[in-house]
Amino acid sequence: MTLELFASHEPRRQPLAPGAAILRGFATTRADALLDAVDALVRHSPFRHLVTPGGHRMSVAMTNCGAWGWTSDTSGYRYRDEDPETGRPWPAMPPVFAALARDAAAELGFDDYAPDACLVNRYVPGSKLSMHQDLDEADAVAPIVSVSLGIGATFLWGGARRSDRAVAFDLSHGDVVVWGGASRHRFHGVRPIAEASHARTGRVRINLTFRRAR
Ligand code: SIN
Ligand code: FE2
Repeated sequence: MTLELFASHEPRRQPLAPGAAILRGFATTRADALLDAVDALVRHSPFRHLVTPGGHRMSVAMTNCGAWGWTSDTSGYRYRDEDPETGRPWPAMPPVFAALARDAAAELGFDDYAPDACLVNRYVPGSKLSMHQDLDEADAVAPIVSVSLGIGATFLWGGARRSDRAVAFDLSHGDVVVWGGASRHRFHGVRPIAEASHARTGRVRINLTFRRAR
């Protein structure tokens, strides 16, 4: 007899490491509001394909909201307080974003989480994110809160070193992954997205990644 029989209506927590877990379905009831907010913010700062310092065009399209936005170009990765495409500040972080991030972080014991940056990633079938660490933020303890919306993905959870073996987890619409504290600098990535369609997003996966950048 499995626990799910009794708790299937509740979000399930899947521990990954100290300070890290997958919160299954944690964002499901707020997903429509989150996606409406994405639609609104991309009217101000559209999705774009950034170029890596090595000169490669990323297959994931990105934009940001909040005080700081993560950008990449041939001179490197950095946070900026304005969108280089529009010359204006990034759109403000929608209250529904900030509340979800705070609530998810609190589930792992990170109280009063107040992200100042949210990277919004748009994947289509074939898009991927190579294994990397999130190292560009000033706060090395406050968690990353990562929200999956739309079509599914296989998330790769690695170790502290690039050579450490990664474990694969399928992420679905509404799943949230949190990693902070001792796990904050773990390697992670996303396998090429499989062909799929979702009722609200079509052939698209949206990922919101909250950070404490400055
Ligand atoms: C990221 O590492 O920035 C995104 C992870 C994801 O899309 O699940
Ligand atoms: Fe990342």
